[in-house]
Order: sequence, then C-alpha cells, then structure tokens
Amino acid sequence: MMKPNPFYAELKDSYLFYHIAQKTKAYVDAHPGTKLLRMGIGDVSLPLCDAVIRALHEAVDDQADKARFHGYMPEAGAPFLREAIAAHYQKRGIEIAPYEVFVSSGASDELGDILDLFERSGSSLIMEPAYPAYVDANVMAGRKIIHLPSNAENGFLPEPREEVCADLIYICSPNNPTGAVFSKEQLKRWVDFANQNGSIILFDAAYESFIEDETLPRSIFEIEGAKTCAIEICSLSKSAGFTGTRLGYTLIPKALVRDGVSFNEMWLRNRTTKTNGVSYILQKGGAAVFTDEGQRQIRENIQVYKQNAKTLMRALDTAGIWYCGGKNSPYIWLRCPMGMGSWEFFDYLLNEIQVVGTPGEGFGACGEGYFRFSTFGSPEDTIEAAKRLIKLLHKREG
Ligand code: MLT
Repeated sequence: MMKPNPFYAELKDSYLFYHIAQKTKAYVDAHPGTKLLRMGIGDVSLPLCDAVIRALHEAVDDQADKARFHGYMPEAGAPFLREAIAAHYQKRGIEIAPYEVFVSSGASDELGDILDLFERSGSSLIMEPAYPAYVDANVMAGRKIIHLPSNAENGFLPEPREEVCADLIYICSPNNPTGAVFSKEQLKRWVDFANQNGSIILFDAAYESFIEDETLPRSIFEIEGAKTCAIEICSLSKSAGFTGTRLGYTLIPKALVRDGVSFNEMWLRNRTTKTNGVSYILQKGGAAVFTDEGQRQIRENIQVYKQNAKTLMRALDTAGIWYCGGKNSPYIWLRCPMGMGSWEFFDYLLNEIQVVGTPGEGFGACGEGYFRFSTFGSPEDTIEAAKRLIKLLHKREG
C-alpha cells in the first residue's frame, strides 16, 4: 500500500498565514460589515508600476501576433531577463553571469524546490525567528532541522558557532520577521564558516530593496568567498509588487561545487525536468523592472511603504512600545505590551481595534512575546491603524 509522507505528521496543523487568514475570516463572518486593517501578511497594496504594465501589455500583443508569438520558454529563464538581472548586479559591482541566473515563479516556491539539490538525510540550520516556510519545507523533505534562536540582545543577528553547524544554512537579510540586517563583517563570518565546514548558505534576499543604509550588503555576493558557498534567492514580490504576478530569480554561481558536482548544472537539470519555464508575458514584465525607468518607479512605491513604516514607528514610540526593524525592512517587530503572549496580542488587536498583525510565535518559539506589523498596506489604512494603536495602547498599564 502506498503510504503518505510520514513527515507531514510533524508539521503544525496549518501554515501560519493560512491560519491567520482563517482566524480573520471567522472574525469578519461573525462581525459583518467590519473593515479590518490588515498588516499581517506582507502583501503589497500598490499596483504594478507603469513600466511593467506597459511591458505586460506589449507582451500580450506579441502573443496575439504569429510573427512575435512565444510558446515554451527556456526552463531557466528567457535570455533577455537573465541578461537584465546579471547586468543589474554588475552595475552594483557584483560579477554574476547570465548563466548563473535562474528565473523562477517566486522565492517561496524556490525555497522549497531547491531542497531537491541536497542530500535528503542532511541538516538545515534555521536562525529563528524565521519565515515559517523554511521550517515547513525542511520538515516535508524529512531533513534534520537545527534551530538557532536569536534575541534582542544579539540584535536578532546570531553569530556562527562551531558546535552549531549544518549542511545548509538559511540566512534572510533583511530578516523576515525582525527586520534585522547583517553587516558585511557579520556576513563574512558566516561565509567563512560555511566555506570551512563545506556548508551551503541559502541567502533569502527578498527584502534587499528596502535597505537604506548603503554600508549594508544587499546580496551575499558582495561578500568575498560567497561564490563557493552560497545560493541567493530573490523575488520581485516585495521590490516590484509581484506578489500576485509571481516572478523571482535564483543565483547559483558556477564556482559552487561539492564532491566535484556543480550545483548550477544540477539546478539546470532539475529545472529542465520539473518546469516549462515562467511565461513569456511575465518575464517581459519582469525585465521592465530592471530598466532605469522601472527602477525609478519601483523606488517610488517602496517610498510609500517606508512612509507607512514611519507612521507605525511613530505610533509605537508614542505608545512606549519596544520595536526594531522598519528602517531597512518593510517589517516592524515589536514586543507585545502588558506581558501578553503573541497570539493573545493578536486576538486583542483584532477584537479591540480590528487590526491584523502576525504573532511572533508563528516564526518560531523564540518569537513568543513578539509581534510583527507589515508596512505594505495602504497609507490610509496604516494611518488609521496607527491612530487606533495609540488610542488603545497609550492608556494601558505596565
Ligand atoms: C510574509 O508575510 O512573511 C510574506 O509575505 C510571506 C511570503 O512572502 O510568502
């Protein structure tokens, strides 16, 4: 008899954001007509920028014309997009070749799929609090997980330790959920550690475009030695508003080799088998992001989210609540007031002021007592949420 994958029994009952969606739906069903202010999942509220929309329209027209029509796309991505992404990195002084770029349908898909490249019995080091898909994908794959908790004392930026080692090391910087960003020196220590131990770093750069401080690295490949130990997974979801459109890319250097086997070649082998590539239309839209016009326009949208962050940070300052993030990241990570647990605070905000956030415990046990706000909502909702937060929390005791 075919048996189901036994590792699913080790997963939490439901995925964090699905669980929150169910809880908020139950609230709305019980309180018809209520308008929730959603600052939970990091889903963008601004439309795609003009340069992207124009490119998408043109690509649709291409598909209507026999001479310009495209069928299957190359599995690793259209040359025009791979070249545009490589050139984007080269402008920032990072040497990446187009054949080291793999176009994907988004970072979350890729973070799970990429586990195909590694020995199943291997181990994964996950710094927590962490984006919950890291843990879930590793549980589903039956890999051993080593949890590395971080805390406010180390700025949510743990250092490598000889006794805590794994084949795979997840690093998300700017971090989801804490907003903490590794400095070049800190990342160099992780790169050296990975090279010394033969580990591979999976670097999640989904939030790199929110970094304001120019001394902070936006790519692991700004760090010397990273090409022999790292894979970078990036997404246009947050930088260019592609959460619903779906497009991302993965950088796998040719120099990333273990036991004489090239991970770049393995991933090409994997993609040619498991995908038929991302649609021509989306890749044309994605290429527009990397034009000068596209870059200018996406930066304008990011500024709107950054203004939201300022609005929320001011509200938390007024209410006297400890937080971090928000500056180089679209997430604000705060300590729940009045000693509340993170799900308790979730219910409190939902019931009292109809504001939805994300409980810190959903990002790992060390996130208990913390809470995350996303700044991707509309400015109107964010201003309203800030007002309600101040009113609710300013009068609290303790
Ligand atoms: C989040 O809210 O953590 C992210 O939006 C989830 C995701 O990117 O899948």
